[in-house]
Amino acid sequence: MPKPKRTASQSRWLKEHFDDRFVKEAHKRGLRSRASFKLEELQKKDRLIRPGFTVVDLGAAPGGWSEFAITWVGAKGRVIACDILPMRPLRGVEFLQGDFRENDVFIELYGRINGAKPSPEFVDEDDVVAVAAAADVDATTVATVANEAESHNERQAVLNRDNSAGAGAASAAGAPKAGAASAVGAAGAASAVGAADAASAVGAAGADVVLSDMAPNMSGNNAIDQPRAMYLTELALDMARRVLKVGGSFVVKVFTGEGSQEFLAELKKDFTTVRVRKPEASRDRSREVYMVATGFKGHALSGVAPSLDPTADL
Ligand SMILES: C[S@@+](CC[C@H](N)C(=O)[O-])C[C@H]1O[C@@H](n2cnc3c(N)ncnc32)[C@H](O)[C@@H]1O
Repeated sequence: MPKPKRTASQSRWLKEHFDDRFVKEAHKRGLRSRASFKLEELQKKDRLIRPGFTVVDLGAAPGGWSEFAITWVGAKGRVIACDILPMRPLRGVEFLQGDFRENDVFIELYGRINGAKPSPEFVDEDDVVAVAAAADVDATTVATVANEAESHNERQAVLNRDNSAGAGAASAAGAPKAGAASAVGAAGAASAVGAADAASAVGAAGADVVLSDMAPNMSGNNAIDQPRAMYLTELALDMARRVLKVGGSFVVKVFTGEGSQEFLAELKKDFTTVRVRKPEASRDRSREVYMVATGFKGHALSGVAPSLDPTADL
């Protein structure tokens, strides 16, 4: 069968992509995406991620930022990633697949950041098998080990103890999801007892850094794309306000245009320093910039679990 003909703009994009030095370099280093270089540059300039930190990565697939972050946080840290798309397991990274705009995904993520075990509805049997395959252990081992442990850290310890060769990767890549069979999301419990008790119900674990590289599928119509993109940045800020520890950092991709200046002004209220950066790896013709906000001051939403009530605002 003849191959479908590419449009001129598709061909241009492909040529540009394969000529791109960051694409070539990512390929050479075996990295998941050229996006890694953006975070690398921000890290060099702003020293955002440190060993032992808990980092939340929103819009994580295919995993360039998570891959970078996990090397910085080390064994004592955590990287909790979320994307609407699937992501190949990455050693040490806990992944939640779901649409961040959806209430239950937002709540699930909030719970996990605060140490809750994954909820059953977010456990996918295929993931258990995929994780096992990635770690070269059988699926039953992964599921059993994950269910045996009470918390993420315990799961990690059990996996490392029982299967130091392969299962470490299993815990790293996805065992938290597998553990969900016995889990009740702590955020659910929290919302049931009300906002005041929420923080203590989920534990005050929190995050040191929230990253958001989320971008909607672009239609090409700015009147549609810009509000969609700003909605994702606002949601990411909502999560950051709830989970960041005082002094924490928030990095968010923003498309300059309608609403971006107002968003910058909002950030300035909650963080001591906000810088607008355009990393070298960010294409010149793209309106994307990264707002790097450091020194979280705390917020009325700090430690407050989002509500399970679907009619309530997140
Ligand atoms: C630019 S890519 C991220 C690249 C990533 N930082 C990396 O280093 O590989 C943007 C990601 O945002 C995700 N995304 C867009 N809308 C989302 C949503 N509503 N919920 C979760 N992820 C979303 C997309 O699926 C896409 O993978």
